Amino acid sequence: MKDWMRTARIKSSEITDESVFRRRRQIIQGTMAAGVTGFIGSAAHAKALSQPVTQWEGNATDELTSEATATTYNNFYELGTDKGDPVKYADKLVTDPWSVVVDGECNAPGTFTIEDILKPHAIEERIYRFRCVEAWSMVIPWNGFALGDLLKRFKPNANAKYVAFETVQDDNLPGMSSRVLDWPYVEGLRIDEAMHPLAFMAIGMYGNVIPNQNGAPMRLVVPWKYGYKSIKSIVRISFTEKQPPTSWNMSAPHEYGFYSNVNPDVSHPRWSQAKERRLSGDTSGLAALFSAKIPSQFMNGYGEEVAELYADMDLKKFF
Ligand code: MTE
Repeated sequence: MKDWMRTARIKSSEITDESVFRRRRQIIQGTMAAGVTGFIGSAAHAKALSQPVTQWEGNATDELTSEATATTYNNFYELGTDKGDPVKYADKLVTDPWSVVVDGECNAPGTFTIEDILKPHAIEERIYRFRCVEAWSMVIPWNGFALGDLLKRFKPNANAKYVAFETVQDDNLPGMSSRVLDWPYVEGLRIDEAMHPLAFMAIGMYGNVIPNQNGAPMRLVVPWKYGYKSIKSIVRISFTEKQPPTSWNMSAPHEYGFYSNVNPDVSHPRWSQAKERRLSGDTSGLAALFSAKIPSQFMNGYGEEVAELYADMDLKKFF
């Protein structure tokens, strides 16, 4: 076994007591069964989440981050750069109606409503560790479906080497008057990364319709990469032959590469990536600054699953 595979395994001290974990699961399942949404969202969303939700067998068993923390301590620069801005200005994002353009190197392009996209998918719950490049991490139960299942519907052709994603651009969003990034926010994956069974399209979290501040109505979750790859509020998906530009790479290319795989051995030029602050339970605001630091895991602990994607690559060069 390679060294990084060994460190990718979760330490037993991080595993929540089984009974606490089970109790949480029951609460979440109870919420789902009741179809409680509590968030702004379309009827199609609420309906999708009121159907039976399949549990994913690879779920992380680490203690969950509370829903209160995961929905109030956010990065969504279109709504502002403070961690509290996205929830504060969440209602500025209009998500209903919503449509997604799918274009580029594919045989079945088109413009689709969010209802069209949700309809054919059975909804799964996946508990993923989620690590931000800023060295904090959460453990979140997402609801959605494998990204690959969605992409295949548009019949990518042989030239489709990459997938580019774009977020909504709307002058009413308070953060967009700032020059902090070039808008719209864009991200990309290599096609084999996008088709990997771990890459996930989330439409809900904690059994609820995904709140606007977390990227309603549909956002990516790529659990082995730094959080900025998980682009929110997607309006365009394009299959491309060339590697697409990505927002953070354009803003600071020496700090943020295209791959952005979680790697404790490759420091960010301004800080180490070896450890992370785990926001377990209810930890937001100032408390987040004092929460426990734990060693970061190669590929965020998903190293074995994604190893074949990077078999012959120097991950220090392709960071
Ligand atoms: N997507 C858009 N459109 N705009 C953003 O500013 N921030 C990214 C990512 N997706 C961001 C985005 C970053 S830096 C992180 S860490 C995650 O969203 C945060 O997701 P969360 O707020 O749901 O935890």
